[in-house]
Amino acid sequence: METHIRKATEADIEPILEIINGYAAQNLMLPRTPEQIRRVLPKFLVAEQTGRIVGCGSNVELTPRLTELRSLAVAQDQRGTGLGRRLVHALVEQARADGYDQICALTLSEEFFNRCGFTTVDRWSISPKIWHECVFCPKFDACDEIAVALNLTETAPALASLAPEVSLKLWQALKLGRLQMLRQKV
Ligand SMILES: CC(C)(COP(=O)(O)OP(=O)(O)OC[C@H]1O[C@@H](n2cnc3c(N)ncnc32)[C@H](O)[C@@H]1OP(=O)(O)O)[C@@H](O)C(=O)NCCC(=O)NCCS
Repeated sequence: METHIRKATEADIEPILEIINGYAAQNLMLPRTPEQIRRVLPKFLVAEQTGRIVGCGSNVELTPRLTELRSLAVAQDQRGTGLGRRLVHALVEQARADGYDQICALTLSEEFFNRCGFTTVDRWSISPKIWHECVFCPKFDACDEIAVALNLTETAPALASLAPEVSLKLWQALKLGRLQMLRQKV
């Protein structure tokens, strides 16, 4: 059966959510809402097999040079068939065509991303991700995801890595800021 990777459309939002939120229920991914998918739909790709959506993934800009590979998932019965790798390659090509220097991800599937050419990096080296989304995440205080990244150009600047003791100080400051933000919301 042929599986075709293409850009997502509005009609794909529901099947995308079905796949992602199915894994979220198993604590393998973060849950998403229709609005969150719609907001980044132009950079969403889906894998379609005889009219059925069997995989998805998106690129989300973090900075003008760094994009995040997000919401990557393959339907349960299609896992281990090479589809995840095909989706990653398609998203990497999309990011390269869009002119980014680097692509990153926060994942529980570190080994899979390593096999797709990504290198494991210090979480702080993709800190725009933390400012962009992690501060709003319910798992912020107990995140077990690993940061991975891939250079898209020969001249990509090195991702800035920070010494652990600096990271800790920044982490504490960030937590304080977040607490304040949550208090203001109440
Ligand atoms: C992670 C996921 C996208 C991988 O897709 P897939 O189609 O199952 O993976 P592929 O068949 O393309 O695997 C590519 C390679 O990675 C390896 N691999 C796949 N999943 C792996 C895992 N969880 N751990 C270690 N290696 C893994 C495969 O053995 C294969 O190795 P090879 O280089 O020897 O061929 C898919 O399993 C999935 O949807 N998981 C649940 C949701 C999830 O965790 N998403 C990631 C969020 S960032």
